[in-house]
Amino acid sequence: MKMANLLVISFMLCLGMLSTTIYNVKLIACASSNGVPTRLYDFKVQTKRVTKLCNTKDIVTINGKFPGPVVYAQEDDRIIVKVTNKTPFNITIHWHGIRQQLSCWYDGPSYITQCPIQSGQSFTYNFTVAKQKGTFFWHAHVSWLRGTVYGAMVVYPKANVHYPFKNPYQEHIILLGEYWIKDLQEIEHSTLASGGAPPRADAFTINGHPGPNYNCSTNDVYQLDVVPRKTYLLRLINAGLNTENFFAIANHKLTIVEADAEYTKPFTTDTVMLGPGQTLNVLVTADQPVGKYSMAVAPYKSGRIVHYQNVSAIACLNYLGAASNSLYLPAKLPKLDDKLAVKTVMDGLRSLNQVDVFKEIDKNLFITIGLNVQKCHSKTPKKNCQAMNNGVLAASMNNISFVNPNISILEAYYKNKKGSYTEDFPDRPSKFYNFVNGAPNNIPHDTQSLNGTRTKVLEYGSKVQLIFQDTGTVNIENHPMHFHGHSFYVVGYGTGNYNPQTAKFNLVDPPYMSTIGVPVGGWAAIRFVANNPGVWYMHCHIDIHQSWGLGMVFIVYNGKGESESLPSPPADLPQC
Ligand code: C2O
Repeated sequence: MKMANLLVISFMLCLGMLSTTIYNVKLIACASSNGVPTRLYDFKVQTKRVTKLCNTKDIVTINGKFPGPVVYAQEDDRIIVKVTNKTPFNITIHWHGIRQQLSCWYDGPSYITQCPIQSGQSFTYNFTVAKQKGTFFWHAHVSWLRGTVYGAMVVYPKANVHYPFKNPYQEHIILLGEYWIKDLQEIEHSTLASGGAPPRADAFTINGHPGPNYNCSTNDVYQLDVVPRKTYLLRLINAGLNTENFFAIANHKLTIVEADAEYTKPFTTDTVMLGPGQTLNVLVTADQPVGKYSMAVAPYKSGRIVHYQNVSAIACLNYLGAASNSLYLPAKLPKLDDKLAVKTVMDGLRSLNQVDVFKEIDKNLFITIGLNVQKCHSKTPKKNCQAMNNGVLAASMNNISFVNPNISILEAYYKNKKGSYTEDFPDRPSKFYNFVNGAPNNIPHDTQSLNGTRTKVLEYGSKVQLIFQDTGTVNIENHPMHFHGHSFYVVGYGTGNYNPQTAKFNLVDPPYMSTIGVPVGGWAAIRFVANNPGVWYMHCHIDIHQSWGLGMVFIVYNGKGESESLPSPPADLPQC
């Protein structure tokens, strides 16, 4: 028996389950510390030469895999991943959606919770998936490396705990991504230096494969074989950098059963939309005539002035018994700017069970999110100020563009080192106006944002309501807002400006999420309890927006009780 098979089998014995398709496993052993089952992984950050779209280049990967290895675990397990950096580039890994209860040091965002792991160094991430299960992913959290450094993370329910739906015949991971022919880090640098917008991706990908619509990709297609009448669980993950995506399968319905690793009431739809950072589990039954069907990924064009890649990525769904020469039935996607299709899916996301959302609020925050154009300060404006009216593109929250410090905020906070950040992130914008429609388009005068590394401090246990308000400065757009270290209830959302008199809230069965696509030209209201001491990044998961400053940081103080304090930092925490 091959070594890889042995690993898979021993891993399945560890899990004590499942009829699941498991591949890409990079597990070393099943250990146990203090009776907590432990999953050990070895991540070598290394470059790998790949050929796609008729071009060859070196990309940064984990263990030479693209997409990277899948991390498997069971609810409440401990996960230990030793990351060794064998590239010349700085790296960190973030475990997206894992709440990191009392383990903020291992969260991963560079300059927020840790300094990057430098060339030749290593850092061992060590955390539990306490009270969490479902579909997650991991990705690099430094510069734009996550464009190729990403992989799925699957956390199964505990032994003998069943899914709240009939066990699927098989499970498969579907990772959506974006691919550029040029070197990604060069693109990032030249984009930021230009002051203008980034180039669009050269292709969308499904599990790393662009599919037949692109040059030289006829054989670079993800294939999924299905048995007629069986039901499959697809774990959809948008690991793309800058684009929100529609996903559909020709003639097949998708039943959403989980969003952001929390169960939802089953909701059946033809298409789903996932912003970067979002995950959805859907059930698909092979209930159509035996044949071949396409799965398609296209952009959701929420921003009018953004240049999107228009060509869809295609993967293949092949019924057992289909003639090998049968043609693929094309998938129908909504109009690429179809807000209603997006709203329909959002309306369908409800927590599986009734939830107990708090009604008394300790802290009310109102935060505008959007783009800005800053004045040009360059002596070579043609080169560096390519945004509208010879300005520089930026993005902000409450009109403050987040600037990374040069040490980690968590370390500065823990060691009481002053000077790298401030604690004056405002609770509301400095002026209220018609955010969506009345934005001052007198660029660059009124669309200037302030630069700063501002944080908002929260007492342990604070009950927070936060309204995100999209602004029309420069452009209205759907922003996938992601929060580290906490999940939140999405209690309301709508189009236009938030109006407390007319806003409708759902306090009965709102979805519990960690990334919310704030509707284009609209608002979303979230509620969370700040019960995880540490330093937590909140940002738009569209990487270019994050690079432009669409982020901020919460500092959650220690509580008084036992297990309410942040432990001391690990000895191998990287230094800047
Ligand atoms: Cu998946 Cu801060 O990101």
